[in-house]
Amino acid sequence: MKQKNYGPRTLLVSSLTKKYIMAAAGIFLMLFLIMHLATNLLMLMGDDGKAFEKAVKFLTQNPLIKIMEYVLFGAFLIHILIGVVLEFYNYRARPVKYKEPLRSEASPFSKFMIHTGIIILIFLVLHLWHFFFIRLGVVAIPEFAAHEKDFFNMAIHTFTNPLYSAIYLISFVFLGFHLKHAFQSAFQTFGLFHNKYNRVIKIVATIYALAIAIGFSIIPVYFLFFFE
Ligand code: HEM
Repeated sequence: MKQKNYGPRTLLVSSLTKKYIMAAAGIFLMLFLIMHLATNLLMLMGDDGKAFEKAVKFLTQNPLIKIMEYVLFGAFLIHILIGVVLEFYNYRARPVKYKEPLRSEASPFSKFMIHTGIIILIFLVLHLWHFFFIRLGVVAIPEFAAHEKDFFNMAIHTFTNPLYSAIYLISFVFLGFHLKHAFQSAFQTFGLFHNKYNRVIKIVATIYALAIAIGFSIIPVYFLFFFE
């Protein structure tokens, strides 16, 4: 079957550029997750959130972090927009709907990046509603919180609710799958996925994805079952 030709070479070039930008934004987001997890794990110190509050105070008052917040939201926006556009191009460029699933060398996660991405986006809206939008004043300060940065009490309230904890935990499974492929894919995009290092990159990607997914999961589990 003759394949449809979707546009000039420039489309290919610009798709590549899009992939570079998307990968760069993705790497930034992956680094953010490490920092975000490290800060949030301070909630589990057993000191009623004192160390965590200190870290939040430092982060929310630091002008450099404030700038990084804008960069972070820019990165999210770019990553999501380009992800949707690339998915749309790929969909249109597909000559026929496959009757049988194609056997491919790609990891099974790679076929579901847009789906896991959408789930993470839905999670993110709920998550920002629980914490960040309260600090911004978009959502009113709830009665259980002393002030707009009282994230420890917000966490207690959120995660002692089994429904919210379940939603968070399920989202972290999808986040793990998304990150596993994202990590490898970023290396590939920047041409660093060499046969020699394939195995190492795959192992590091798995360790990173597992550490993030399990690390974040510990927080709702702690508040749901072990917090007194
Ligand atoms: C149990 C796990 C998590 C907890 C307890 C948690 C906690 C928080 C808290 C307290 C804030 C408000 C910080 C502030 O306004 O300064 C926040 C903001 C945010 N969280 Fe999370 N988070 C979790 C997981 C995640 C995950 C998995 C993602 C991304 C996929 C994420 C993305 C964000 C973003 C983008 C913000 C707004 C930017 C920022 O304030 O740093 N969080 N989170």
